[in-house]
Amino acid sequence: MKIAVLTGAGVSAESGIKTFRDSNGLWEGHDVMEVASPEGFQRNPETVLEFYNQRRKQLLTVKPNAAHHALAALEKEHDVTIITQNVDDLHERAGSNQVIHLHGELLKVRSTRNEAYVRECKNDLKLGDVCDQNHQLRPHIVWFGEMVPLIDTAANVIEKAEAILVVGTSMVVYPAAGLIQYSKLDAKIYFVDPNPSISESKRVTIFAEKATTGVPKAIAALNNLK
Ligand code: APR
Repeated sequence: MKIAVLTGAGVSAESGIKTFRDSNGLWEGHDVMEVASPEGFQRNPETVLEFYNQRRKQLLTVKPNAAHHALAALEKEHDVTIITQNVDDLHERAGSNQVIHLHGELLKVRSTRNEAYVRECKNDLKLGDVCDQNHQLRPHIVWFGEMVPLIDTAANVIEKAEAILVVGTSMVVYPAAGLIQYSKLDAKIYFVDPNPSISESKRVTIFAEKATTGVPKAIAALNNLK
């Protein structure tokens, strides 16, 4: 079966990575617009680079949880594509092979001028670190107000899916939040989130609980479809 999985910060919460919207709009103590917008980067590039350096360090200390592992194991029986809003690499570390990072990747950096110049970065990024054409490097993150280059690829995956699993997202950030609208009318949707933002209906089944317990239950329900 073709399965699309849409994940948000909640799938990584039990690994120890904080979600975005549970602390007055602050992301690890910072105003989101200051550390996740092109304007914030222009105003204060050093602070922004240091913020992502800290996130990168933190990421290297956490591990995938049971939800990431259950989603990776789903590939043994199904054609699974994960569309994640997360910038961490926990799906990949759990073993998922098809992961679309809508909002970019923390362990990559890119040129501020040449979008095609992207490279891996597991350490700190500093002012003065440049691409091959001498332009400053920045985190490979889609900031507020920027285009989401992979949105069409993701919409395509949702369009073809026979079942959709949504895990740990408040579904408030567009265009990701609108992706479900591309689904087939008969595609079943399973939504795992302790504080779900959509309600149950004929095609939507809700598991109002944490990802580590809810994802295995949603997968069991999905396997019953066969
Ligand atoms: N298991 C599952 N879901 C959880 C858990 C958990 N253990 N803990 C919290 N959640 C849920 C919350 O109930 C909430 O619905 O995770 C969701 C997190 O929502 P947000 O913090 O808004 O994260 P997300 O939806 O991924 O945000 C989207 O916003 O700031 C931007 O670019 C950033 O990708 C991010 C986007």
